[in-house]
Amino acid sequence: MQLFLDTPDVALIKDLAATGLVDGITTNPSLIAKAGRNFLEVIGEICAVIDGPVSAEVAAMDTAGMLDEGRKLASIAPNVVVKVPLTRDGLIATREFAAEGIATNVTLCFSAAQALLAAKAGASYISPFIGRLDDVGAEGMDLIVEIRAIYDNYDFDTEILAASIRTPGHVTQAALCGADCATIPPDVFNALFKHPLTERGLDQFMADWAKTGQSIL
Ligand code: E4P
Repeated sequence: MQLFLDTPDVALIKDLAATGLVDGITTNPSLIAKAGRNFLEVIGEICAVIDGPVSAEVAAMDTAGMLDEGRKLASIAPNVVVKVPLTRDGLIATREFAAEGIATNVTLCFSAAQALLAAKAGASYISPFIGRLDDVGAEGMDLIVEIRAIYDNYDFDTEILAASIRTPGHVTQAALCGADCATIPPDVFNALFKHPLTERGLDQFMADWAKTGQSIL
């Protein structure tokens, strides 16, 4: 399973990329607004650090505007993935990007029917938003299960990118349900390393090791 970081924060990306466990990056307009930095510069900086896919979202609502913006974003680096909203215009743009060899991440997916259309349009990635479905009382993870079944039924190549991840449990559930990737906020990514029994066990081992008075080197 590929693990992406859901952030435009270059310092956080560098820190976690040093683990060798970060396969790609996603961003969105809200995260860019929160970062308060120039969008194009930030995407360039991220692509200089990360070799894997880096999603950068278009802001236009119409197909022609999305194509213009997407081509510009794709020109920043070969690993830019153009993020396109799951709308009728967005899927027409997705089909054109696919014909041009530009990778796409179709975002704001909340139903299996939407995911089916995105795959037929040639999306490289589909982003079902798990946490936002949970927020409105649905079971977000069921969407991953449905999309996995549909994509497997028809051998679609579109990769399922579990998004709107809020907890480490979301990551493991997405993996169990067969998501190809998950995009994870940095605090949740850091939480993946941890378990209270690991910490307790390590404290005990280190205390006992100190009693031996030995050193390994
Ligand atoms: C995915 O590409 C989105 O950037 C992100 O996962 C949205 O998460 P949120 O619902 O926590 O804002």
